Amino acid sequence: MEPLRVALLGCGVVGGEVARLLTSQAGELAARVGAPLELVGVAVRRAGRERGELGFDAGLLTTDADELVTRADVVVEVIGGIEPARSLVLRAMEHGAGVVTANKALLAADGPTLFEAAAKHGVDLYYEASVAGAIPLLRPLRESLAGDRVTRVLGIVNGTTNYVLDKMDSTGAGFAEAVEQAQALGYAEADPTADVEGFDAAAKAAILASLAFHTRVSAADVHREGITEVSAADVRAAQQQGCVIKLLAICERVTAAAGEAVSVRVHPAMLPLSHPLAQVREAYNAVYVEAEAAGQLMFYGPGAGGRPTASAVLGDVVAVARHRVGGGRGPGESAYAELPVLPMSEV
Ligand code: HSE
Repeated sequence: MEPLRVALLGCGVVGGEVARLLTSQAGELAARVGAPLELVGVAVRRAGRERGELGFDAGLLTTDADELVTRADVVVEVIGGIEPARSLVLRAMEHGAGVVTANKALLAADGPTLFEAAAKHGVDLYYEASVAGAIPLLRPLRESLAGDRVTRVLGIVNGTTNYVLDKMDSTGAGFAEAVEQAQALGYAEADPTADVEGFDAAAKAAILASLAFHTRVSAADVHREGITEVSAADVRAAQQQGCVIKLLAICERVTAAAGEAVSVRVHPAMLPLSHPLAQVREAYNAVYVEAEAAGQLMFYGPGAGGRPTASAVLGDVVAVARHRVGGGRGPGESAYAELPVLPMSEV
């Protein structure tokens, strides 16, 4: 069988790990896919700034991502952000490549454009790594639960804020001190705004709600409140009531005046210690799903980090590559909005 050509866009913490695993596990992946996976290029903004040992031939590095996506069967996008990621993903699909992306911001801002392009060009678009890192979550929502009616999704989907709130809870630290600890351990960025203000969790909530309710939810539809106002006194008060404070993504099927709708919000919430999500410590993620027939399900594991996220990316690469070998494509997204999204003022 001819090798399948894999192009990697981005060589940061996740991209570097994807490239290393593609190379070091080449034999096993070829056996699973039914064809070798050949890394044909790694697009970077500026050559020479990659982290650690490359683990692949440095000659594969290129700054010409536009050209690279035209000569691949599978394009892996781990650049993040809206542009140039969106243009590159669309160009890859136009040229017939299946796409794997970890880009929650892009999916939450403009998912339908990508889904429509994938359908138009008859190619796969997989994005398991965009929410909750290594935890298999999006495919269960999109595929395993497609015959059920999901009623609620409650998630701790941001590891940084969970670490900060957990430290405040376990040590009595204030918000600023806990953020400093998170930065020292490499969880929080030097500018932690996207995490602590809830933007990251809101993008993930939009993706979860879209899949759970077969509808179109963008980040702009999500009511968002971060954790910057949570004080050590708030945490103590919660403890006195047998509760813990968590930043939750809450996606619910609700009954509004005009009929059924979807409500999606991200905010700090008090959880009784008996709730399964209350036990999620450090920078772990967990998502609790309620569905009418399935009942209550809990998904738990590492939600960030190079290797865990690379695991989810490679799982998608294998899925897309298997379709290339066997013919056909994976399930597309619902082309319609099953339920309207309710503004926060009407919840
Ligand atoms: N900043 C994110 C987090 C990374 O802390 O969860 C994973 O999306």
